[in-house]
Amino acid sequence: MIRTVATTPYGDQKPGTSGLRKKVPVFQQENYAENFIQSVFDSLEGFAGTTLVIGGDGRYHNREVIQIAMRMAAANGFGRVIVGQGGILSTPAASNVIRKHGAFGGLVLSASHNPGGPTEDFGIKYNIGNGGPAPERITDAVFARSKVIDRYLTIDAPDIDLDRVGTFSLGTTTIEVIDPVADYAALMETLFDFAAIRAMFAGGFRMAFDAMHAVTGPYAVEILENRLGAAPGTVRNGVPLPDFGGHHPDPNLVHAKELHDLMMSPDAPDFGAASDGDGDRNLIIGRGIFVTPSDSLAMLAANAHLAPGYAGGLKGIARSMPTSAAADRVAERLGVELYETPTGWKFFGNLLDAGMATICGEESAGTGSDHVREKDGLWAVLLWLNILAVRRESMKAIAAAYWADYGRNYYARHDYEAVETDRANALMAALRDRLAALPGTTVQGLTIAFADDFSYTDPVDGSVSRNQGVRIGFDGGSRIVFRLSGTGTEGATIRVYLERYEADPSLLAQETPDALADLILAADEIAGIGRFTGRTGPDVVT
Ligand code: G6P
Ligand code: ZN
Repeated sequence: MIRTVATTPYGDQKPGTSGLRKKVPVFQQENYAENFIQSVFDSLEGFAGTTLVIGGDGRYHNREVIQIAMRMAAANGFGRVIVGQGGILSTPAASNVIRKHGAFGGLVLSASHNPGGPTEDFGIKYNIGNGGPAPERITDAVFARSKVIDRYLTIDAPDIDLDRVGTFSLGTTTIEVIDPVADYAALMETLFDFAAIRAMFAGGFRMAFDAMHAVTGPYAVEILENRLGAAPGTVRNGVPLPDFGGHHPDPNLVHAKELHDLMMSPDAPDFGAASDGDGDRNLIIGRGIFVTPSDSLAMLAANAHLAPGYAGGLKGIARSMPTSAAADRVAERLGVELYETPTGWKFFGNLLDAGMATICGEESAGTGSDHVREKDGLWAVLLWLNILAVRRESMKAIAAAYWADYGRNYYARHDYEAVETDRANALMAALRDRLAALPGTTVQGLTIAFADDFSYTDPVDGSVSRNQGVRIGFDGGSRIVFRLSGTGTEGATIRVYLERYEADPSLLAQETPDALADLILAADEIAGIGRFTGRTGPDVVT
């Protein structure tokens, strides 16, 4: 039944920050998905007879590619394929399933927070046996292979019924369709004090969770409403849809505006949260207060010991380079190491595997821990709930106490989206050319202390990643970072990250745009954003 099919390479299958992401019509070209999946398998060794996990966020084209991937996995010699019912597995749940069932690796089908639908985005990412995204060594090999691929393997067999939990056969390979939520919910129960959170809900605590018609709907209903007793209706937009209901499933202040407005209104519930297309990002909003992802990481790290899974303390904290330095102060206080990595969750994998870090986070709304090897939206929500249940204070009070204690890192990210690639590259090149000349100069009254292009040496395997973003540091600790997004599918996205540290107790309650006003002007002056892009302001501010 195994068939070798001749194919010709596509030149554009280079995995980005988080796997291969393209528009659906690109993926629908003849053999496009097949070429990439075969390139993944051809870049791996020793998987004969082992288990592969396959799951996706349910977006448009998910089911088609899952059928293709199952056939190819069988033809390539995997002994068992575990797939989520309906083709669904959130990204953190997939990571957990890979680890829990001792799989060789997994295919995660998602374009994360990008829109879904017939002309929107799709993606395929390979995760290794630790449950985390493949390191660059593997993604580079996949890209190299995709450029010369001339055949793929498949099997002639009817489609598997993905809607029924059970065991099926594809040739000699076993296909297990599993409940996508069960393993994940069980893991959460080991980490958090469900009894305390249940008592808090029973006492009248109110919450709104926006699943954005994406993958976390069924997870959130089961955990928040069924197991923790949150009121029915706590989970909004809880039914996953192939086009996310036409919305952009990115839990930020622009795309989750409704939740934000609710949380700022007079009848706001106590706590609001949202997650993205594939369930690995989080948005955290208290009544009347938005907590930035960078602050959330720091506040979670400072309070993590209140949850049973972290009662023994943290081994270390890791954050991506553009994430604010708030967590650095917590690490210092705890007497543990702080690791600064390039953007991309894959860079945390080695630190977590080596037991060097327990909690990790990124400015891009990703927070997680060593319980899996992906960031985890609902995990962050549950850790916050656990902390709220123990401290019995409002989010506002907890944040204010935190800032009074540690100082505040005012922070914002300005995105310029769908910029012509040439213009964006020219901006970055011009900036890189000037780095050596910048230190000592003054911009908008701010003196530049250092300017460099971030380079990372992995402390575990010694691998070096260069050109990870331009950092401009100012006297007094303010910072601007410039980098190009690695996840966009249209032109280039320029990201400008702005940060100012404030320790003066009388200046801790400013509006962020006011606190960052001089840095915003300095960023344009240093990089010539308007000049290179023709834009007068960012498309998205988070
Ligand atoms: C994905 C990755 C993250 C990363 C984010 C932003 O969500 O999993 O690790 O921080 O993309 O990446 P970008 O390259 O678009 O800034
Ligand atoms: Zn995501």
